[in-house]
Amino acid sequence: MSRARLPLPEPSSAMPPASLLLSWYDRNRRAMPWRAKPGEAADPYRVWLSEIMLQQTNVATVIPYFERFVRRFPDVQALADAPIDSVLVAWAGLGYYARARNLHACARAVAAAGGFPATVEALLTLPGIGTYTATAIAAIAFGVPGVPVDGNVERVTARLFAITGPLPAARPALRLAAADLGRDPDAAARPSDFAQALFDLGATLCTPRVPACALCPWLGHCNAQRLGIAAELPRRAEKKPLPVRFGACFWLTDNIGNVLLRRRPAQGLLGGMTELPGTEWRTAPWSPEEMLAGAPIAADWRGAGEVRHVFTHFALRLTVFSANVDRFDAAGSAHPVAALDQAALPTVMRKCVALATAQRPALPPSVQDSILRLPFAGEKS
Ligand code: ADE
Repeated sequence: MSRARLPLPEPSSAMPPASLLLSWYDRNRRAMPWRAKPGEAADPYRVWLSEIMLQQTNVATVIPYFERFVRRFPDVQALADAPIDSVLVAWAGLGYYARARNLHACARAVAAAGGFPATVEALLTLPGIGTYTATAIAAIAFGVPGVPVDGNVERVTARLFAITGPLPAARPALRLAAADLGRDPDAAARPSDFAQALFDLGATLCTPRVPACALCPWLGHCNAQRLGIAAELPRRAEKKPLPVRFGACFWLTDNIGNVLLRRRPAQGLLGGMTELPGTEWRTAPWSPEEMLAGAPIAADWRGAGEVRHVFTHFALRLTVFSANVDRFDAAGSAHPVAALDQAALPTVMRKCVALATAQRPALPPSVQDSILRLPFAGEKS
């Protein structure tokens, strides 16, 4: 039996009033360590630093990093004067390490110029600052009208205007629609608050899976909500699965409390960061013998397990081995295990360290053998 479909409501072409969002923000704004309190002037250094940290990383992860960072480097001059290695150590664990190197280069340029520039065009000339970040800093720190479009703002905009095309192709349409929102005179009068109100709306009510539409200040102005498709937007084109790479790394300790570490080349993936010595990361799986041929020294290597980590362009499976010797010749560098927090270890390496040092009952030799032989060789990706 077929049922007559109810006619869909007409999409509204009226702009949602900025004043509704701004009054909601005045009542519900989130406190953030980088955010100026109502009536206070924003600090461009804190705004810039937070926006760089928040690229690709969520607010909850960023807050403790931000607080440690500003304690260690309280202003742009302090950051410019610091050696890059200390910046990499403070950044370690946040990922996307080119951001830390650009951050340092940017701090030097800004300190040399005597302060942050206040226009989108001038901000765009600085290392590590693209359209999103320039628009965000200009709006939040300097009150320049404009809407920075991050993932939260994309979602809010896709829903308000029922833009159903999938990301990433829909991105230009979303940017144009978001810019239209910012042209409302009330938004243009409070660019800093308007940008942050959009972030907060996206993070607290207009959330990905179960949006709290009943609480939204723009309820009644949202086309996706009227059409009953808010939770489905934005749509995303199906992603191709990432290629897999394989490698091995080695946790080697001595009897005076050191572990063998080395530094990655300055350029490229995880450039300048510290790592456990290991094999290259290649597309073909390794046999246990091949992996052990890549060990820094001959020792009684034990398989500790496998670490999986996803980078932007590939997924990595690293087999972790551990061994303890009396002393080792520091062909790389010996680092006190007790001071690992002073090493610029990226997250993938922290996972390897956690695995290698996990307290577990000693495995019987037959199980050790099977760890060595089994899980990775010949695995299909
Ligand atoms: N996401 C990006 N920038 C942000 C900010 N300044 N506050 C909260 N969330 C954000």
